[in-house]
Amino acid sequence: MSNESTTQEQEQNGDAERTSEQLVELAKRRGYFFQSSGAYGGVGGFYTFGPQGASLKSNVEDAWRDRFALEEGNMEIDAPTIMPEPVFEASGHLEGFDDMLVECSECGESHRADHIVEDNTDFEDAESLPIPEVEEVIAEHELVCPSCGAGLAGEAVEAFNLMFATNIGPGDSQPGYLRPETAQGIFVEFPRLKEYARNTLPFGVTQIGRAYRNEISPRRSIIRTREFTQAELEYFIDPEEDEPDLSAVEDVGVRLYPVTEQNAEDGNEIETTIGDAVAKGVITDPWVAYFLGIAQEWYDSIGVDMDRFRFRQHLSGERAHYASDCWDAESEIDRNWIEIAGFAHRGDYDLSKHAEHSGDRFTIFKQYDEPKTVERATVDPDMSYLGPEFGGDAQAVVEELEALAGRDRSAFDDEPVEIELEGESHEIPVEKTGFAVEEQTEAGEHVVPNVIEPSFGVDRVVYTVLHHAYREDEVAGEERTYLELEPEVAPTFAGVFPLQNDDELEAQADDIASELREAGLSATYDDSGNIGRRYRRQDEVGTPFCVTVDYETIENEETTVTVRERDSTDQKRLPVDGLAETLVALREGNVAFSELEGE
Ligand code: GAP
Repeated sequence: MSNESTTQEQEQNGDAERTSEQLVELAKRRGYFFQSSGAYGGVGGFYTFGPQGASLKSNVEDAWRDRFALEEGNMEIDAPTIMPEPVFEASGHLEGFDDMLVECSECGESHRADHIVEDNTDFEDAESLPIPEVEEVIAEHELVCPSCGAGLAGEAVEAFNLMFATNIGPGDSQPGYLRPETAQGIFVEFPRLKEYARNTLPFGVTQIGRAYRNEISPRRSIIRTREFTQAELEYFIDPEEDEPDLSAVEDVGVRLYPVTEQNAEDGNEIETTIGDAVAKGVITDPWVAYFLGIAQEWYDSIGVDMDRFRFRQHLSGERAHYASDCWDAESEIDRNWIEIAGFAHRGDYDLSKHAEHSGDRFTIFKQYDEPKTVERATVDPDMSYLGPEFGGDAQAVVEELEALAGRDRSAFDDEPVEIELEGESHEIPVEKTGFAVEEQTEAGEHVVPNVIEPSFGVDRVVYTVLHHAYREDEVAGEERTYLELEPEVAPTFAGVFPLQNDDELEAQADDIASELREAGLSATYDDSGNIGRRYRRQDEVGTPFCVTVDYETIENEETTVTVRERDSTDQKRLPVDGLAETLVALREGNVAFSELEGE
């Protein structure tokens, strides 16, 4: 069968920044994504995924679910996006989820002060600087407003909280917030979720859903928006006992950029394997290493270009308030590295905070193999003494004595016992505390699990997949743009066309499209414009194969169609009988198009 002639060497787009411009234009034209509420002038930081984009995004989410929920044996939940204020008091978001805001008094535009510093000076981690220092850097370097060019020296830099506030119910008596991360929906439900996990560690809970951040300056289309989708896994472990199966990922090759290399003058990324990185202490936590290995393979499988991908460790000032170690997955877009996921060791921060604020039990009871006899220090204070002595504070004194007995029994060796209450110290005779050390038999203990969190930004994955798939070449003397999307995520797997407007051809093409859909393939029927235009249209949205019904199909004894492969533009005549099975095999990667027998 003759092929469309294609330039042998596909021209990779030389001008990186042009790729993003072209991509955003293509995304709008072909229904991938576009700014929302355009009829009302649009509003920064909100995007609508069109028919192609919604399908690509949902395919990415399905692929993530398959790998991180189903294959790993983790649960999935779907929690509300609005949560009451106490949740975010406990999580620390109300107090510390801030970015640095500077407003230009000339044009009134708001900007991220740390971004202005990073974009115009040698500072790489301005986010970790204290606000007065950022103000000084702006003044010293005479930095200007990116919108109007006016000097920003002397402008106040302020901490701006990124949470979207709302009221739950009528009036303003119950403040609520749109969640800034899906994670909190998992943490607050831990007391119930642990029951579903039969109170046994380790276990993981996933969630794919919307998160909201009132970003100061949303930018780069869907890369930094105010409403976006996260796919998060909270993996709960017993820090003293649970270990991951590193053998499953030890040979996975990764490109790492650890803190040591970032801080070294001639530091570089390291090409290594997960096994080696753990053995050499480059990745210190084996659980983080395990999830980096899985993520590396997953990104590869959905079409992220591994030559434009790395894991970078957070510098100490960069880490979120809850994280003891964190690595970002980064993809290269227009010669810049963009964070597309974070892999954090959150310790017991979240569960301890929610326990403290809610009074509920955020622990797992760990049964010992054999019951243990342990010594416990207890108090049984004499209330007839504490009552008159401390009045309304007597109960607080009891609690302080209990806590003291738990943490430092030697404090009861001295006469009198000293305690502190609201910054004031008090003395209590030892005999009034009822202090005793008793032997107790315990069947187990309550442990606060630690959390390992792979957190993916779905929109950024979608953008990366599109950007890394963007190609331009020449076919039959004509310029062509196409998206080399992996079949697993491509919005449409096959375009089906009648060669010409002819009832018989159209009916046959329609039947074939239906058969393909019945076989679980997404197929689109297209009869508008000439066949060349239809190919270009499908190429531009990244459809891997096109099937054309022509007169040979209906005239010959054996019913055959033309199948064209997107990337090579090669064409083959294949029988309609078994076509769906053949295309399924192509989709699953069980056979390559070049291996198919056909004219
Ligand atoms: N639960 C942890 C957490 O939320 P994060 O690093 O703040 O961590 C995780 O966010 C991921 O969410 C990021 O790696 C990024 O891919 C995505 N993300 C964060 N802010 C975003 C925004 N404004 N627009 C689009 N994606 C965003």
